[in-house]
Amino acid sequence: MDDIGITYYEDSRVFKLDTPNTSYMIQIVDEEGFLGHMYYGAKLPDTTFGDWLRTKEYPFIPSKNNRERLAFLDALPMEYPTHGVGDFRLSALEIKTQGGHHACSITYFDHKIYKGKPNLTGLPATFGSDEECETLELTCKDSVLNLTVILNYTVFEDVDVITRSAKVVNEANQPIKLLKVLSASFDLEDDNYELITLHGAWARERMVERRKIAHGIQGVSSSRGETSQQEHPFLSIVNKTTTEDYGEAYGINFVYSGNFIAQAEKCSSDLIRIAIGINPVNFEWNLDPGEIFTSPEAVMVYSNQGIGQMSRTFHDLYRNHLIRGKYKDSERPILINNWEATYFDFNTDKLLDIARNAARLGIEMLVMDDGWFGKRNDDNTSLGDWYVNEEKLPGGLNYLVEEINKLGMKFGIWMEPEMVSKDSDLYREHPDWAIQVPNRTAALGRNQYVLDLSRKEVRDYIYERIRSILHSANIAYLKWDMNRPLTDLGSYALDEHSQGELSHRYVLGVYELQERLISEFPDLLLENCSSGGARFDPGMLYYSPQIWCSDDTDAIERLKIQRGTSMIYPLSTMGAHVSDCPNHALGRNTPFETRGYVALSGTFGYELDVTKISEEDQNKIPEQVAMYHKYNQLIRSGDYYRIASMMDDPTFDCTMVVAKDKSEALVTYIQVMARVAYRNRRIHLKGLEENSYYLWEETGEVYSGAVYMNVGITMDGLWGDYQGKLIHLIRQ
Ligand code: GLA
Repeated sequence: MDDIGITYYEDSRVFKLDTPNTSYMIQIVDEEGFLGHMYYGAKLPDTTFGDWLRTKEYPFIPSKNNRERLAFLDALPMEYPTHGVGDFRLSALEIKTQGGHHACSITYFDHKIYKGKPNLTGLPATFGSDEECETLELTCKDSVLNLTVILNYTVFEDVDVITRSAKVVNEANQPIKLLKVLSASFDLEDDNYELITLHGAWARERMVERRKIAHGIQGVSSSRGETSQQEHPFLSIVNKTTTEDYGEAYGINFVYSGNFIAQAEKCSSDLIRIAIGINPVNFEWNLDPGEIFTSPEAVMVYSNQGIGQMSRTFHDLYRNHLIRGKYKDSERPILINNWEATYFDFNTDKLLDIARNAARLGIEMLVMDDGWFGKRNDDNTSLGDWYVNEEKLPGGLNYLVEEINKLGMKFGIWMEPEMVSKDSDLYREHPDWAIQVPNRTAALGRNQYVLDLSRKEVRDYIYERIRSILHSANIAYLKWDMNRPLTDLGSYALDEHSQGELSHRYVLGVYELQERLISEFPDLLLENCSSGGARFDPGMLYYSPQIWCSDDTDAIERLKIQRGTSMIYPLSTMGAHVSDCPNHALGRNTPFETRGYVALSGTFGYELDVTKISEEDQNKIPEQVAMYHKYNQLIRSGDYYRIASMMDDPTFDCTMVVAKDKSEALVTYIQVMARVAYRNRRIHLKGLEENSYYLWEETGEVYSGAVYMNVGITMDGLWGDYQGKLIHLIRQ
């Protein structure tokens, strides 16, 4: 790895973690061995280091002046701060002893550096081979509690990423309670930093928001039992002057699908502490003697080439080191989903009618959404009763799927395995399988409860139903939905000391189920979903290569939603479909072509009744199918550049994808609002080779990359609102 990897400098007691373009440094401080966070940023070539933590300044460190120990603990940039002994800033670890005490203090014990990257048992995590990764295991101890904390860091050879997680081991002879175990924390000297976060709601996921970091604590969180639509487990810390293409951008993302906090605290000396991990709200964990608790993984990215480069690094990491399986690097079938086409009102004939017309137009897979099981003709009933409703589907799944296969199409199905309807045989038989608190009427959401996936018998039952459905016919795709958050946290299987473990155990249960599923059905294309995009996170991407981005399929709203999602996640992961107009979420009419261009910057598919749309629109489908096959490889694997956002200027939006080898590029331009008395807009492209010549396929013009990037290209010929176009450049 040459200058990429992890080195321990014994003289200065410094660990230096180097990725291709970044360095991260930790120093062992004082005789006691506190771990100080020394540096994170652009790569440093140095092998000798100054007193950057200012520990030589008397009276700073305890061994020289224990009288002011408190001042030291509350000022040192800490690598993994603990609660209760003098660091009053955000902590990463908080415990409670049997005696009811919370104080904890960890110091360096020993370390290991080795090739490769260990798995996190039962948790999703990025991966890499011995050639691609190097790992530091930093073992710390609290000798009073007999508690060991192992901090894991991995650097990657091909991406500017450092991943972190923490393991807590109870080596005492009595239990200890964990109240907070975060995955990563580090301190930055303020440099006019601002915070970028993603907020939203149902059908309005991942809106980008930027604010100045002020003194005190700020951040985002979820206590909904899922990542949520409202806030996202991601922070980006940027300078005031940072743009898409220039300036510093740190990005921190959490590989987890449940409750989280992602916070920044600016303290009185203008040091900013960044922290990310499981939300301590709704979290407690009993650690018996000898037991280990493993935190999920945090991913850290640093770019000094703007926010765009930060995003591209995340995209590369997730495409190459997180997503697994058959569809990791391959084209996905173009699907048509019947949800917005029929909602619950369908039967075999209707589905076959849609499929026949779709097949004729080149669509490759029919996905049967909600409503095929139990007595489900609306959303009040039957979740949990995963048996085919033969009144709707006479001949069962097998007949339907065979007929669809005869058309040359694949077949996919929808399930919501984590839920149970109040009106269901499953709930009548096992009311104690629902998450609820005894003697309290639990809140319903969409008339349903959440199943207690902390219980093995519940998971086994659900898994058995999923596998029997999947084995009953030739099913190529599963949309795994999850349509309400967790409330009324109570498990009939956990005792009074362990109720606080439910939220995390629930997430571990989801992971276990999905791991079982993809192991038994390696060829299945799994798409996760949660009321649209409420559980769009790297945890779920470990199991499914794509996630339904939002229930808002309007092309213009999707520009914002997909832009926010692209801050972290590659286009290949974003479930995106062409739907009918007026749009079902907000009633807007947009041209069919524009809907196609926007869905193309995602997985691409349809969510409409092809038998009901105009012939004119139907005729455009074969062209869109051809467009998908022409560009999908480039879109899936290329480098993504945001050129202009309608969030900044509501009149237009522009993005582009450039092939890794720079041989071609695709620009997507949407004229959101037409402007009168305005000369055509010039767009400056990005990411091309300056000295190579590129053919503009649609016009036949040939210019150098330098011209496209510096002079730009003119967006003319668009008449009216919501018009779009693609520009394909091919290197000559
Ligand atoms: C959720 C999903 C939709 C659809 C419905 C079915 O809202 O996001 O795509 O599957 O459930 O009930």
